[in-house]
Amino acid sequence: MIRKFDGKTLLVATHNKGKLEEVAHLLEPYGVKVVGAGEMNLPEPEETEDTFVGNARIKAHAAAKATGLPALSDDSGLSIDALDGAPGVYTADWAETGNGRDFMIAMTRAHDELMAKNAPEPWTAQFRSTLVLAWPDGHDEVFEGVAPGTLTWPIRGKDGFGYDPMFIPEGHTVTFAEMDRWEKNKISHRGLAVAKFVAGCFG
Ligand code: IMP
Repeated sequence: MIRKFDGKTLLVATHNKGKLEEVAHLLEPYGVKVVGAGEMNLPEPEETEDTFVGNARIKAHAAAKATGLPALSDDSGLSIDALDGAPGVYTADWAETGNGRDFMIAMTRAHDELMAKNAPEPWTAQFRSTLVLAWPDGHDEVFEGVAPGTLTWPIRGKDGFGYDPMFIPEGHTVTFAEMDRWEKNKISHRGLAVAKFVAGCFG
């Protein structure tokens, strides 16, 4: 039996502004106020696991223990089929410059590796989102969403974040970065995972 969330404010264990805004937008209809880890001055724990769920658990449990509140984390990433699932759990790492993150560098690397492999188009890929809601007593619940699509080059669009400008979701002709947030949330990995979270933990 899935444990219910009965608070009015939900701590979201992320420092990623894009993720936080999307989760806040998705939870608006349920009257939940979302607070980010940054606003609570929480440190960013090191992601030492090699699975999405492992890293999501690290982030959610660290925030729940530090605050005494239930905390929701999202570990997500892009898996490119022709690159054997890379960057996967290392999606954010591909953007690391040593002085912050630059997703133009990360997207260029993805494109360069596809070209180096002579990978035939369409370049199929999936975005995955694993959400973990952790309580201070150590209990947690896990919800996952997957958005299949293809990668395009050159990149297109100015909205969204991360790798959005190179990802065209299945059944569409525009990239996530060319969609408005509401449209993206309806079909995205995070939107699907949040829908499962709402179905499981609310009401
Ligand atoms: P992590 O979950 O903090 O390890 O980081 C996941 C990385 O995946 C983010 O930094 C983004 O670059 C990328 N990512 C996750 N979700 C999305 C999305 O919805 N659009 C674009 N990039 C995403």
